[in-house]
Amino acid sequence: MRRLFECPTKMKNLKLLSLCALSVALLAPSWAAPAAKAAGAPELSIAADRVKARINPHLYGLMTEEINFGYEGGLYGELIRNRSFKAEAGYAYQAEEPVYWSTVGAAEMALDKKTKLNDALDLSLALTIKSASPAQPAGIRNPGYWGIGLKPGTTYTVSFYAKAEGDVGPLVAALVKAGGATIVVGQIDGIGKDWKKFELSLRTGSGLQPSKDNVFTLTATRPGKLWLQQVSLFGPTFKNRPNGLRPDLMELMAGMKPKFLRFPGGNYVEGDTFAQRFEWKKTLGDPAQRPGHRSPWNYWSSDGMGMLEFLLWCEDLGMEPLLDVFAGYALNGERLSTAEDLAPYVQEALDQIEYIIGSPDTKWGAQRAKDGHPKPFAMRYVEIGNEDFFDKSGSYDQRFAIFYKAIKAKYPQLQLISTVATDATPSQRPDMVDDHTYAWGEARMYEHLNDYDQRPRTAPRVFVGEWATHSGWPMPNMKAAIADAAYLASLERNADVVLMAAYAPLLANLSQVMGHSRDRSMQWATNLIGYDALKSYGTPSYYVQKMFSEHLGDVVLESSARDIPNWTSDDGKSFPALHWVVTRKSETGKPGRIQIKFASRAAADQPVRVKLSGVKKLAPTAVLTVMTSPDPEAGNSLDEPTRIAPRTQTVKGIASEFTLTLPAYSVGVLEIEVR
Ligand code: AHR
Repeated sequence: MRRLFECPTKMKNLKLLSLCALSVALLAPSWAAPAAKAAGAPELSIAADRVKARINPHLYGLMTEEINFGYEGGLYGELIRNRSFKAEAGYAYQAEEPVYWSTVGAAEMALDKKTKLNDALDLSLALTIKSASPAQPAGIRNPGYWGIGLKPGTTYTVSFYAKAEGDVGPLVAALVKAGGATIVVGQIDGIGKDWKKFELSLRTGSGLQPSKDNVFTLTATRPGKLWLQQVSLFGPTFKNRPNGLRPDLMELMAGMKPKFLRFPGGNYVEGDTFAQRFEWKKTLGDPAQRPGHRSPWNYWSSDGMGMLEFLLWCEDLGMEPLLDVFAGYALNGERLSTAEDLAPYVQEALDQIEYIIGSPDTKWGAQRAKDGHPKPFAMRYVEIGNEDFFDKSGSYDQRFAIFYKAIKAKYPQLQLISTVATDATPSQRPDMVDDHTYAWGEARMYEHLNDYDQRPRTAPRVFVGEWATHSGWPMPNMKAAIADAAYLASLERNADVVLMAAYAPLLANLSQVMGHSRDRSMQWATNLIGYDALKSYGTPSYYVQKMFSEHLGDVVLESSARDIPNWTSDDGKSFPALHWVVTRKSETGKPGRIQIKFASRAAADQPVRVKLSGVKKLAPTAVLTVMTSPDPEAGNSLDEPTRIAPRTQTVKGIASEFTLTLPAYSVGVLEIEVR
């Protein structure tokens, strides 16, 4: 989908999230009992000895791109907005003034396009201090990305490049409350006539109240003229990596146990024009040597989140990279389709793959080693383009074949993914296809629950590279989570066809979700993880991902159900209210566990009679992980981050026949130990 939230009038799901304060339902003390089946109650029969399909251990992963301030003002640890002064304001894209910066005291600032730091950062901020003293300093201020999140007893690293005309004296870097009170301050001496990098640490006091209503200032105490570039501020990063990532967001993602990362897009790989694609070679090395570029989601990308940062993100969370290469098509329709025209882009993709998996004695493997990572990364999948069904000229057939042949010739071990239906690339059968399933409303997702049941098993396997149920705004509610769980159950049921799946988008900065698109922090509603400059949380949909990923089985077991009740959507359509999948997880030296995953859209508690055959002995108790909400419209928020979250409890009375009562509006996993 392109630019869904380009302007407010195009917003499809501009529905305010219900603000009703409702508590999570108290779980009934006993979920299972060997009681007889109530008349008409649903019955679930499981053949524990009949395997339907094997499950790819890499089924669940993450899809990511620069959208919703996902990296800038999100995962990427930089706290200064527009550190290079190259950012441009929204649609205007005329960097005539240093956006997101303002002056403090008697100072004047201007972009100086003649005074560059280097060819990448090819302009600077010229700062004229007209009058200043220690009591009345003058300089510049930056508000961060809708604030700067500060925590007590924490070290923040300031760095910048500067040069001056004459003696401007020491500069003062400070973290300041938005109201003006200084939190912590440090001084830097030695600004001379040539560019030099300066760095200092600022440590907040132990009594500081965590807050995001803070700004950064850099001031002088005497008059003069100086130039600044790459003014940066980092807090702690995950695993203390330099130029690293925000720890709370990494920890939330780690909780999902993702096995792969699809990057760098999405639309972000393509760009609005060829010139605005993700040019990976320009994202390597020293961040002060990266020019940055405009993202198709209408804001500036510093490219601090570059190729190696993506790969280290994979390494730190135990994920395999799933690289999406630019395939000669941009969002504005610009495209190339002959082998000759595409040759430079094919080479760009081959070099990119070499950067990831090449040994250090290859050209781009050597570059990776120089960048600090001699060891090649393990990678199995490469996707060619993104959503090329939007290219109505039909050029993808040629483009795909050209990229496929060139990549396969050099890397026969790689599985190559097409972005269109198999019959749209007759010139070259893909190894896999990437399907995108965005359901605009919970009922629409229920229409997708049989998408793969009838797919010919001889057709290429499927990567569901982007999918989500849109219900709730700005983030998914419990209804969305139930439909998501029903969808995931349908994918697991078809695990012989669907090898991988990733929800999209992953991240959203929720600081400013309303207003002109130029000013918004979120371009696409309904995402897994929300945050501002200080806090973060997982949505109910996030917890569905977590529950399914944490309980990934090895095989799908045969199961069937009868007497399932229906629910009726707002548009009068009727759908089964209970969806499920049964899997088995083996354990070394043990018979393993049977996992019943369910999504119940029923508005009341629902007893289900479970009948297990093909298994001799079961543990009498089982573990139930369940998430429920009495209000299906409710969701989580920055202030109530775990209002809806899974809880775990022990269930008694497990036998070859037992009754499990599913709470109204719930998603859960019952894990039964086989003995
Ligand atoms: O996930 C948001 C967007 O949806 C992606 O950038 C694009 O691939 C799809 O249309």
